[in-house]
Amino acid sequence: MDEQAKKTALRGISYGLYVIGTKVGDDVNAFTGNWVTQTSFAPPLVAIGAKKGTTSTDGIHDSGVFSVNVLETGQKDLAFSFFKPVSRVGNKFGDVEFYTQATGSPILKDALSWFECKVVHEYDGGDHVIFVGEVVDAGVHREGSPMTLSETGLFYGG
Ligand SMILES: Cc1cc2nc3c(=O)[nH]c(=O)nc-3n(C[C@H](O)[C@H](O)[C@H](O)COP(=O)(O)O)c2cc1C
Repeated sequence: MDEQAKKTALRGISYGLYVIGTKVGDDVNAFTGNWVTQTSFAPPLVAIGAKKGTTSTDGIHDSGVFSVNVLETGQKDLAFSFFKPVSRVGNKFGDVEFYTQATGSPILKDALSWFECKVVHEYDGGDHVIFVGEVVDAGVHREGSPMTLSETGLFYGG
């Protein structure tokens, strides 16, 4: 296989960019990720790809819950806040405020919209774990266009 072609072709997959939250023991954690897709209407199921060995992946595995925060186009600073490990103080990750709802996973106040899931399947996805979650609650903070990975100029894929 032509490695460069593989990389270029795989990077042709279009993505959004989301902050994915979860519970870690009695605490919460969140990371920015693009490997998110719906897999079923009824029941409403969503799959995420989560890197093996991270705090969040272990947290989702152990707690069985995660939230997906849909960011708005232009919210680059918010997206960039969760590419590296974050620490929580009260209901904030740094300056970023969150609250919790049904599952206890963090919901960012500044996100456009959100949904939260209970894990119903977990698969070995190579160097990532694929969690399939059933959407158990959702909310919309305001109208707007969702952020895309391409507008950030970053890639996670290839
Ligand atoms: C553009 C971009 C997209 C990313 N997408 C994902 C993703 O879909 N899944 C994932 O597990 N990590 C993804 N990451 C890496 C996580 O953001 C990073 O590993 C994070 O630090 C994990 O946080 P944690 O260690 O606190 O759990 C991405 C990183 C970048 C730069």
